[in-house]
Formats: sequence, C-alpha cells, structure tokens
Amino acid sequence: MTTTTTAPSLPADLTAAAAVERAERPPITPRPGPREFDGVPKHWFAGLPVPTQISNGVNLLFPAGERFFVRSVYHYLDRIDDPKLKEAIKGFGGQEGRHARSHEDFFAAMRGHGYEIDRFLKVYEWLSYTLLERLAPPPLRLAATAAAEHYTAIMAAGAAADVPLELAHPAMRQLLYWHAAEELEHKSVAFDVLQQVNSSYALRVAGLAMSTAMLVSMWWTATLYLLWQDGITPWKAAKSLRAMREVRPSEPIFRRVFLRGIRAYLRRDFHPDQDDNYHLAKTLLAKAEAARVEAAAATTAVSA
Ligand SMILES: [Fe+2]
Ligand SMILES: [Fe+2]
Repeated sequence: MTTTTTAPSLPADLTAAAAVERAERPPITPRPGPREFDGVPKHWFAGLPVPTQISNGVNLLFPAGERFFVRSVYHYLDRIDDPKLKEAIKGFGGQEGRHARSHEDFFAAMRGHGYEIDRFLKVYEWLSYTLLERLAPPPLRLAATAAAEHYTAIMAAGAAADVPLELAHPAMRQLLYWHAAEELEHKSVAFDVLQQVNSSYALRVAGLAMSTAMLVSMWWTATLYLLWQDGITPWKAAKSLRAMREVRPSEPIFRRVFLRGIRAYLRRDFHPDQDDNYHLAKTLLAKAEAARVEAAAATTAVSA
C-alpha cells in the first residue's frame, strides 16, 4: 500500500488585511532547544544517505543564515513604533539565536562522523554574509529575509505533515520539530517589518530573487558536497530518490518549497497569515517533546 504526503496548502482565499484580522497568532516564545547530538548516527534519516544529506545540506545553511535574518530585521528596530511588532521582533531574534546554536551543536556530530564541513562553511559564509551583505543595501537584505522566512514557514508546515520524518533519529526529530514550531510562530515578523519599512512590490520581488538564488544554489552545493563524501554521485542520488518515490509518492521538496512558495509570494496581496497554520506550532511542539523523551531514554539505555 502506498500513502501520499499531503503538501501544506498556500491558500489565498482572504485578502491580506482580512487574513491578519483572522489570524490567531501565538506568542513568540524562545525555548531551549536540543544541544546534545552525540548518539546521532551518520545517516540519521532512516539509515538512508540521500534524505540525510538533503537535510544536512540545509542544516549547514541555518546558523549563518539565521544570524543574517536577525541582523537584517534588528537594523530597523528603532524605526518600528508598534509595540506589538517590536515585541515580536525581540521574540524572533531570541528564537533564531537559539536555532543557530542548536544547529551548530549538530555540526560537531557531523565532524565526528568524519565529514569535512568547515571549508564549505567558510566559502558559504564569505559569499553570503561578507560579500553579499556588503553589496546589498539594508532594504534588500530585509526583503531577502522576509522571503527566506516564507520558505522556512513552508518547510515548517511540511514537517508537521511529513510522516517519514518519524523515521529520523529522535534527537534530530526533536531539533527539526522544535525549530519548525518556532518558525511558524514568527513567520510574519520579517514580512510585517518589511511592509512598514518599505512596502514596494518590486523590492519584495528583488528580495525573493536574492533569497531564492542563495538558498537553492547553496543547498544544492552543500548536499552534493556531503553526498560526494559518502561516495554517492548526483545521478545515483537521483535514482535513489526516484526509487523512494515509487514506494511512497510525494511532492519533491524543491517543487513544494520553491515553485509553490514563489507562486504564493508573487501575489501582490500576499501575507504569511493567509496560510492559516499557526495551530500547527502546537502539534510540532508536542512531537518535539515526544522525540526529546525518546532521545533521553535512548541515551540512558546506552549509558546503562
Ligand atoms: Fe530558525
Ligand atoms: Fe525564522
């Protein structure tokens, strides 16, 4: 029997103003995340190298990316008068800082498995955050952040519906579910700041182009680099993904995140609140807690 993953919808049934009015936004609460990844195996996603390295590829981008997002939004903190939005910005900063630290802790486990990641990180961080940050003006950096937050919100909603993620090692499930929950909680912050600072559609689209180019190129490069270290060629990886989809049909992540995400974001009247999914944050936090308990039990069993 095969099952089909239901991709999260990106509806536009409400105007941006009506969606914001309807949204029941949860408080943006920074919580401590997992910091211990010693027991995580090399291929932590069901023992499969290809899904593991696709996930590891984006994981490598998170810490520096999230610090860039925080810098881009905090740049405008003094220009925001709305006390609620100011509070939300601080919650967003607190959450992203913790995400970056937890994902960096996982880097140590990757190094422990013998992966060379530091050369990649050096090039990625120089290209993205030294060169680009110097060249792109603050409004464009903010627009790129708002677009990137749109992508992370789509991935976060996908995590709530992703049954195979249950096959991942519990420590990684805890990391990914916890991160996804908080991404949903703060999904509107950067977009709302952008709307207040500069609501130009052209700027929003330029930010989307910059963010998409960076994320797609770096995610692919990181994934291929890690697969190469596993001795897996791109065509072998593609063949293995095709075989997996025959067993369990699902929409490829690049299509779901990027093609559908771009289409939604290009609507002139787009707002993150049009996707009514804040409630998924609670589901994801419950999954993260269950994974935390499982990971702790596994650690106790190993050390007993
Ligand atoms: Fe994050
Ligand atoms: Fe975020």
